[in-house]
Amino acid sequence: MRLDRFVVPLEIEGLPTITTEVAIFGSGIAGLTVAATLTRPASAIVFSKGPFDDGSTRYAQGGIAAAIGEDDTPLLHHDDTVVAAVGLADEISVRTLTEEAPEAIAFLEQMGVRFDRVNGELSRTLEGGHSRERIVHAGGDATGAELSRALFQAVIARGTGIRNDAFLVDILKDEEGVACAAIVLLEGAPTIVRCRHLVIASGGAGQLYASTTSPAPCTGDGMAVALRAGAVLSDVEFMQFHPTVLVSTSDPRPLISEALRGEGAIIRDREGRPVMEGVHPLGDLAPRDVVARTMATTMAVEGCTELYLDATSIGAKMPLRFPTIFASLLAMGIDPTLDPIPISPAAHYTIGGITTTIDGETSLPGLYAVGEVASTGIHGANRLASNSLLEGVVFGRRIARHIDQQPTLALRAPAERPLSAVTSDSHSPLAREEIRQMMDMVAGVVRNGTDLAAALSRLEAREMGAVSLSERAIEDANIVQLAQVLTESALSRTSSVGAHFRQDGAVIDDALPQRQLVARAREGEIVHTMVLLDAPALD
Ligand code: SIN
Repeated sequence: MRLDRFVVPLEIEGLPTITTEVAIFGSGIAGLTVAATLTRPASAIVFSKGPFDDGSTRYAQGGIAAAIGEDDTPLLHHDDTVVAAVGLADEISVRTLTEEAPEAIAFLEQMGVRFDRVNGELSRTLEGGHSRERIVHAGGDATGAELSRALFQAVIARGTGIRNDAFLVDILKDEEGVACAAIVLLEGAPTIVRCRHLVIASGGAGQLYASTTSPAPCTGDGMAVALRAGAVLSDVEFMQFHPTVLVSTSDPRPLISEALRGEGAIIRDREGRPVMEGVHPLGDLAPRDVVARTMATTMAVEGCTELYLDATSIGAKMPLRFPTIFASLLAMGIDPTLDPIPISPAAHYTIGGITTTIDGETSLPGLYAVGEVASTGIHGANRLASNSLLEGVVFGRRIARHIDQQPTLALRAPAERPLSAVTSDSHSPLAREEIRQMMDMVAGVVRNGTDLAAALSRLEAREMGAVSLSERAIEDANIVQLAQVLTESALSRTSSVGAHFRQDGAVIDDALPQRQLVARAREGEIVHTMVLLDAPALD
């Protein structure tokens, strides 16, 4: 694949310029945590693509995993994470995540987050793949909304700047190749943001799929921009599909939290048979890849397009424990205390992303990434439920502390013309929707090489249109670029592991674990490399 068809030089001379120490792109849990942890909060600006809470964080239902119970330890949480990750988890990252998780919950409470409590103790629940009740939540099933509210207020109170309607177009580097500025469409106007530290926390790429729980802003801009600038991405083929997503034509599709299964709900087919029975020792609480795959297979065999979540056993607890889900289902004429809920899997979480260290550093000096846009290796081939909000907090705090320790040097000047202002496929208004439908068909829960190769040819053959410096046009081009990267990655990983299931590939449980790195090797050219993970070094 060549990147240069997405690339056209843009004149930056004379554009208005904003200067800040730390530029944070993304206003979800990860970006807000960085801002809320920096010791000099006024030295940062958070740039939000739309209004501050229109990303994925606000939609999060289930909660945040942390070993806070007396029956639990970070090591048990670590082990569950590693098992769910099907051998591809990065040991150091998982240890960091699970050991720092209880502290992350305490930090959030200090920031004003009001978690649900029972008799004064944090209330905990179970989700798929967890061996202990360790998911803390807020507002029953409104954890994300509460996190957004509290963190946003904390960040404002600390004096950090927030700029809405700020769309990241590209990264600029100085003459030594250090990221030192960004081109941003600020309320539609091209603007240069110069900074010492550039943090991408812009969320995932669920909108590559027509059927997704990810909201409209999740078009993978951060990953696309970082790749164009020369940063390495990893494991882009691992898109996680959530098993229990309401069958609906809305975009995004409404999530029915895994926590319902934690409270006893069961997935059934149209005859009422429990779909997960006998499939996995954890039954309906098996890791997500196993449940989604079993559902896809069952639907194919039974010739249907939906299955049903039977949550009737939750009974009278439902309105109290899951008020948001309960109210929205009732509004659609489904009473979940009596009726089966029609569900099918949908794209939910981008496991791969911009490769980072545990301090959020990317392969591009000056550039950090955190949250769903990043790939620390904690999720391996399949993310454990409720580890994603946690990752935003743990690694967001680490980035802030890392930045705090850096010497204050003079601002670097962008030395090169940006590589972009991408062109867009603006000739066809249907282009984005066609691609999203195609990704559902060929790069979903079950994949095969023939269909992936055909999809790649179609993507490569797309005519790119005239240069247009509008948010919609650049999003479109980012979607084409990432759809190609994901499809190529899915083609080159020929065996099945975790969330990547190749119908035509062997399931290799004991193969040497490999991460797939994607980078721009020379002008315009993208290369994929498989690298072996270090052998786990457990105490
Ligand atoms: C859910 O509530 O089921 C989603 C939790 C997650 O994706 O981690």
